[in-house]
Amino acid sequence: MSFQELAKARYSVRAYRPDPVEDDKLARVLEAARLAPSAANRQAFRIVVVSTAAEKDGLRRIYGRDWFVQAPLVLCVCAVPSEAWVRKADGWNAAEVDATIAMTHVVLAAAAEGLGTCWIAAFDPAAAREVLKLPPDLVPSAFTPLGYAADAPGPKKRRPLDEIVRRASAK
Ligand SMILES: Cc1cc2nc3c(=O)[nH]c(=O)nc-3n(C[C@H](O)[C@H](O)[C@H](O)COP(=O)(O)O)c2cc1C
Repeated sequence: MSFQELAKARYSVRAYRPDPVEDDKLARVLEAARLAPSAANRQAFRIVVVSTAAEKDGLRRIYGRDWFVQAPLVLCVCAVPSEAWVRKADGWNAAEVDATIAMTHVVLAAAAEGLGTCWIAAFDPAAAREVLKLPPDLVPSAFTPLGYAADAPGPKKRRPLDEIVRRASAK
């Protein structure tokens, strides 16, 4: 699959089959995240792999949708602000961006493996911290189930290119 095909094929999966995710597929998804670029190569992110069967009740507290616990695995990408590059000019901390890029690699690598994901930000951060027993320096950034889709993609609704691209003209 070319990158363009992959970008088109990926969609937010909101129904999953219970079939297990093969270890080699999970390993490639995690490796893709490990290879992600990060500010000053600080790699200020961590990925928590959760077995749904072992943590169903806790996961339901984190995000209440039924489909969240249908797949065998849930991943949580966390930012680590204490490790991240900080811009001198204004003190901006890159941890959330590092975590977001890692998560982007996760969802695209998963799609390349034929696996479904759904980026979830509307989770309960306090419940996430408690259920996953996160150390204080880890900030949960995004969750996704990881498993085989039981639904099908709808049409992609996107703004036209000329609405999102602006060309600055040099004078
Ligand atoms: C930062 C971010 C947060 C999101 N949070 C949620 C969420 O909490 N729940 C959900 O069902 N989908 C969530 N999504 C998925 C988006 O709704 C979805 O990507 C968007 O509607 C485009 O659809 P597609 O992913 O199928 O192409 C999120 C996506 C992103 C990038």
